[in-house]
Amino acid sequence: MAVESSDVLARIERDKSTYLEELKDYLRIPSVSTDPAYEKEVLRCAGYVIQQMDSAGLTTELIETEGYPLAYGEWLGAPDKPTLLFYGHYDVQPVDPIELWRHDPFEPTEEGDELVARGATDDKGQSFAQLKAVAAVLAERGRLPVNVKFIVEGEEESGGEAIEAFVRADGGGRLACEAVVVSDSSMFGPGQPSLLYGLKGLQYMEIKVVGPNRDLHSGTFGGAVANPANALAHIIAQLRDSETGKILIPGFYDKVRPLEDWEREGWAALPHDDVEYMAELGLSELSGEQGYTTLERAWARPTCDVNGLWSGYQGAGAKTVLPAEASAKVSMRLVPDQEPEEIARLFSDFVQAVAPPGVTVEVEAIHGAGPVLVEIDGPLAEAAMAAQEDVWGKLPVKIREGGSIPIVGTFAEVLEVPILLVGMGLPDDRLHSPNEKFNISHFYNGIRTIVRLLDRAGQA
Ligand code: BES
Ligand code: ZN
Repeated sequence: MAVESSDVLARIERDKSTYLEELKDYLRIPSVSTDPAYEKEVLRCAGYVIQQMDSAGLTTELIETEGYPLAYGEWLGAPDKPTLLFYGHYDVQPVDPIELWRHDPFEPTEEGDELVARGATDDKGQSFAQLKAVAAVLAERGRLPVNVKFIVEGEEESGGEAIEAFVRADGGGRLACEAVVVSDSSMFGPGQPSLLYGLKGLQYMEIKVVGPNRDLHSGTFGGAVANPANALAHIIAQLRDSETGKILIPGFYDKVRPLEDWEREGWAALPHDDVEYMAELGLSELSGEQGYTTLERAWARPTCDVNGLWSGYQGAGAKTVLPAEASAKVSMRLVPDQEPEEIARLFSDFVQAVAPPGVTVEVEAIHGAGPVLVEIDGPLAEAAMAAQEDVWGKLPVKIREGGSIPIVGTFAEVLEVPILLVGMGLPDDRLHSPNEKFNISHFYNGIRTIVRLLDRAGQA
């Protein structure tokens, strides 16, 4: 059936620079959820989302939680039509290392087609595109072709506990819908949209190795006392075989679901080039688990990586000191059917078992999220794919991703509806890195894609 959106698309053409300015205001709020120093800003940011939802024409509520509030909005004026639940997050990652940014990370800067700011693509730009699409349709027509609900959380980057509790307690009451639409990921590449059907899970750990009761002279005491930094290096070295790339924690692979043949074949046919991939990253060689391609390693094999490491003297010149403590943050990306709690236990047991004598080791689980594979069949998934084709001129490829969005697994489990992971970013958007960006053309095309999705879902 022909689906018309030209009225709204014309309005977007007229209003898009206003949308961009509003996105910049959103990006100016430093909503770093993981660092308590930003608490006020994270709260202010939730208020900005509510205000934007209000002015779009949604009925809103700032839902208080144990953690940061959820920004909720809905428009339910089409009783015989399906309901789409749009999800995004208003929190962002920390900005460090700050000296590598070309500009203030919270002063969004246009560089050609790129809008550079923390949160530009992850996830303010993408989530805002969803909201602006609804705003544009309501402004043009005074009504929507489907019902919509929006839930925008403020803790995605720090584990997503508040929304998890809310979704479970709600049990599909207020959040009842026919599909969830998540825009918090990337397209496969320039001009090639994607519909994701898998995300990795995550288990984040912190190790603290404690030795003597104070930093010691490394000559007077060295050799006679265990060095926590050496001990930590030893522990970390046991985690992974550097030849085969296998994780050495006993039981780690027990529940890993092997890749399906159709996935391996499909991914091998995608236009991925290791040489370009290396060039973009400034590398001359790749490294990972033996027997798997780059895309397989990134999307479907579990990993264990140090994310932070500190101990001892780090100032200029040399200080001969035997540090009293050493710490590391380690994250493991999980794939179906690994379970975060079980992996945390296996990790802790292994770290304690390989710890050398003379130090005590504390292992703490910081947060976890389950891996997911979602169904992408049915009329609403078809509508999402067709909407992407309308805008990009190409059907999306069905792929998995190595990132995690903790609430997605819970949505699938509690709401029992298709989860449509419609990413608008690009693989080189530098999320979590300095100079994060979102292409302005992708912001506009993201808005257009959601407008098409609304119109197509209304006919589905
Ligand atoms: N938007 C990302 C997840 C993502 C990235 C999906 C790239 C697909 C492609 C999300 O905001 C994110 O970074 N999540 C964290 C979650 C964690 C802190 C629990 C992640 O994956 O590190
Ligand atoms: Zn994100």
